[in-house]
Amino acid sequence: MSTVLIAPSILAADFSRLGDEIRKVEDAGADWIHCDIMDGHFVDNISFGPAIVGFVRKQTKLPLDVHLMIEHADHYLPRFVDAGANSITVHVEPEAKHDVGKTLQQIRDSKCRVGLTLNPETDFKLVEPFLDKIDMLLVMTVHPGFGGQKFRADQMPKLKRAKSLNAKIDIEVDGGINSETAKVSIQNGANVLVAGTSIFKTSDYAKAIRDLRGN
Ligand code: DX5
Ligand code: ZN
Repeated sequence: MSTVLIAPSILAADFSRLGDEIRKVEDAGADWIHCDIMDGHFVDNISFGPAIVGFVRKQTKLPLDVHLMIEHADHYLPRFVDAGANSITVHVEPEAKHDVGKTLQQIRDSKCRVGLTLNPETDFKLVEPFLDKIDMLLVMTVHPGFGGQKFRADQMPKLKRAKSLNAKIDIEVDGGINSETAKVSIQNGANVLVAGTSIFKTSDYAKAIRDLRGN
């Protein structure tokens, strides 16, 4: 079984001391840092932009896993590359208003790892044409826009289908991941787990990360 990677979502961190939070979660065993970028258009919430990603970059050597929940990702993504992103994930839905194939190539050309994601409501067929062009598929297990939502187990068949069509890519899940739903996700083929609430809203980050890994 492949090693399970843990990517804490800093959306749930205490932004008044973000630097400390990032160092603490790195010391606690995190593998990546997940950065949720929301523009108030593609999703009904506004989070942070390239400047904060640049700040995060200075706090850690861990890979930055940038999740773009924005319209026109092709226009903004060079700024996240410059800010220090290591992987960039864009949405496949038409509401994201970009040419998916072109944007994936743009990420590839920037030397970042290429991620593609779909919402729970989105048919898996939309991502199938791109599975050989990406390094990671992110299956959203909540409708994007907020942390602290309930995990959608009905999304697990998408993990299995992705694995059957391209066993080489990473399978990431995001939304409502805790020690229970992590187990279910891993059993269905996930190897990268994003978690916000179940890490940053606890008092022991190291224990929270061990529990997610199932150790
Ligand atoms: C939601 C984001 C998630 C979210 C995860 O749109 O993409 O990364 O922050 O938070 P939890 O783990 O609290 O569901
Ligand atoms: Zn996310």
